[in-house]
Amino acid sequence: MKTLLATCLLLTTAFAAAQDKAIDRKVDELLRKMTLEEKVGQLHQLSGREFTGPASGKHVNKLADIRAGRVGSMLNVKGVAETREIQAAAMQSRLKIPLLFSLDVIHGYKTVFPVPLGESASWDMAAIELSARIAAREAAASGIHWTFAPMVDVARDPRWGRVMEGAGEDTYLGSRIATARVLGFQTRQLGGLDAIMACAKHFAAYGAAVAGRDYNAVDMSLQQLHEVYLPPFKAAADAGVATFMNSFNSLNGVPATGSSYLQRDILKGQWKYKGFVVSDWASVKEMVPHGFANDLPDAAGKAIHAGSDMDMEGYAYTAHLAKLVQGGKVKMALVDDAVRRILYKKFELGLFDDPFRFSDAKREHDVLNDPSHRQAARDVARKSLVLLKNENAALPLDRKAKTIAVIGPLADARRDLEGGWIVKSDADNVVSLLDGIRSHVSPDTKLVVAKGCDTACTSDKDFAAAVAAASTADTVLLVVGESWDMSGEAKSRTDIGLPGLQGKLFDALAASGKQVVVVIMAGRPLIFNNIADKAPAILYTWFAGTEGGNAIADVLFGDYNPSGKLPITFPRSVGQIPISYSQYNTGRPLLDEKNVVYKSAYIDSPNTPRYAFGHGLSYTGFAYSDLALSAASMAPGGKLTVSFTLSNTGKRAGEEVVQLYLNDPVASLVRPLKELKGFQKIMLQPGEQRTVSFTIDAGMLAFYNDKLALRAEPGDFNVMIGSASDAIRLKAKFRME
Ligand code: NOJ
Repeated sequence: MKTLLATCLLLTTAFAAAQDKAIDRKVDELLRKMTLEEKVGQLHQLSGREFTGPASGKHVNKLADIRAGRVGSMLNVKGVAETREIQAAAMQSRLKIPLLFSLDVIHGYKTVFPVPLGESASWDMAAIELSARIAAREAAASGIHWTFAPMVDVARDPRWGRVMEGAGEDTYLGSRIATARVLGFQTRQLGGLDAIMACAKHFAAYGAAVAGRDYNAVDMSLQQLHEVYLPPFKAAADAGVATFMNSFNSLNGVPATGSSYLQRDILKGQWKYKGFVVSDWASVKEMVPHGFANDLPDAAGKAIHAGSDMDMEGYAYTAHLAKLVQGGKVKMALVDDAVRRILYKKFELGLFDDPFRFSDAKREHDVLNDPSHRQAARDVARKSLVLLKNENAALPLDRKAKTIAVIGPLADARRDLEGGWIVKSDADNVVSLLDGIRSHVSPDTKLVVAKGCDTACTSDKDFAAAVAAASTADTVLLVVGESWDMSGEAKSRTDIGLPGLQGKLFDALAASGKQVVVVIMAGRPLIFNNIADKAPAILYTWFAGTEGGNAIADVLFGDYNPSGKLPITFPRSVGQIPISYSQYNTGRPLLDEKNVVYKSAYIDSPNTPRYAFGHGLSYTGFAYSDLALSAASMAPGGKLTVSFTLSNTGKRAGEEVVQLYLNDPVASLVRPLKELKGFQKIMLQPGEQRTVSFTIDAGMLAFYNDKLALRAEPGDFNVMIGSASDAIRLKAKFRME
């Protein structure tokens, strides 16, 4: 059996290598025919946002530029009709090189899935891959070849609005999710009609913008960079991601777009990456205001030297690269390398065989109306919801309650449930939470609805009416949170509380003596201490997508047992930010919250977050027992197994995400107190038990030492098994010789 598998693997590898060579030959042949201007054209990406609008300024010339072979790719055009028309213009160019159509398909195309941070809370790689798969199917059927996703930036600062677009704060979880998303978008082999190219972005360290202010500078040690921020990119590269996007930020003084260290030394050098790098929007040009380039020609030269292959809407390459080559400032070989990488992908996608193969009106119609996509969106959304608190079994709700009051600005919201980065918004098709509740409760249940205020909540004038509505009900549900446009790009906030007076709306309802169950919708962790203290139950739903209302109601009424776990820490206050479970120890660790004097602590707040990374409750209970290690020590390069028993101690079937954390207590560099190194999501029936095991190898113990070499150092290691980063249930130690 083993030999058969090995033979199959060898044959597949040999076939892939032969295919690569065949494409290489075609690329070389085409390159020989290209003029310098045509080569530069391949490196120019143009936005079509205003393409079909009133022609003005530079947009007038877009089609003419395409016909002249001066454009290699377009973003922000979509749909079979439009992409066909534009591709037809490219087919009038001398060499008929097809355009690549790209778009930010971040969490769904027509069918909207939860925002990426929400999906990440599912810790369910199959669900995350499926979501990307469906997004790719729909986008590909609408003429799109390439999505600018996944965003794999590790983010530990919830003031940064873009935490919504990523997988949260953790390197290991983020790496697993990066792989799942890449495979979902691309499948195992590009070239199929339902696969689109993915793009790992933003390379690199964009998520560490100082003070959470978008586009801000980043300054970090190389150790942090390699250990925390780069691995999800490496995981995406290993999964075969077709493209990378660089980032707006400077890193240790060098704008990422102009960073040879990132793009040439690490990505194309150490990692031997064969795909291409697109700049972020105008980030080549922005090296001028950064103070890193004198002017646009200088920026173009710096970017191409640093390894940025395609210039997105920066107009630096198209305007200046040819002159730089003619003037001897940029070698033709650099341009050829960038063009080669791009042409390779066009061949791989089959666009030279048929430039219109992604633009088929019947397929577009059928795929965009496939009912299974909505079903999948509901399932992924249910998995992404996190039950933060549930005292006295306040949830699930009784579907036969006489009267349920549904209060709050987001109770009947539709557009907000889609979240940011919606490319084909269809808010009328979104199931609001109120819709979802209506279809779950008994026909005899009366629903009373009051908004209280809108999302900005600048006035309390309607609070009294909301309190009056609640007073008639046996169950009160309050639905609060951010509006969809408060997170995402350029949506940094200094105050991440509930907007406006929303927190006071809760207080007003709670003051009336009612038990208020709270649903919070948002694209980032919010701070809501009064609710966390007083509400009996809190369900955090992120922006849950097209089927969000049904999914949330499934959890509220117990049709689905919540299984989500936080992929990011929820602080108590902005003052604790940046915050992560994976902190370093100090020489003055806080061992007792009551004694903070001369300890690494705050005098006005506990160090602990409000809700820790990995936290999330279920309607059932899980017990952890019988931890065992296969050996007390591990040889260098060896392995050992840690196993334990997980039991469902409650009355419902449910899924638990068991989490493996490791710690190296003494090393040549101070190591984090805990690092997630494994997890499994396990479904158990009531009373069922399962033996769970993880294999630990030396790779999981390794870290970047002061020479930036990745090494595991001999010594003791702590193993922790938890249901959350702050709920370690089992512990053990072993030695590595
Ligand atoms: C800027 C954003 O940073 C990037 O993530 C996005 O893909 C591009 N704009 C294109 O829309």
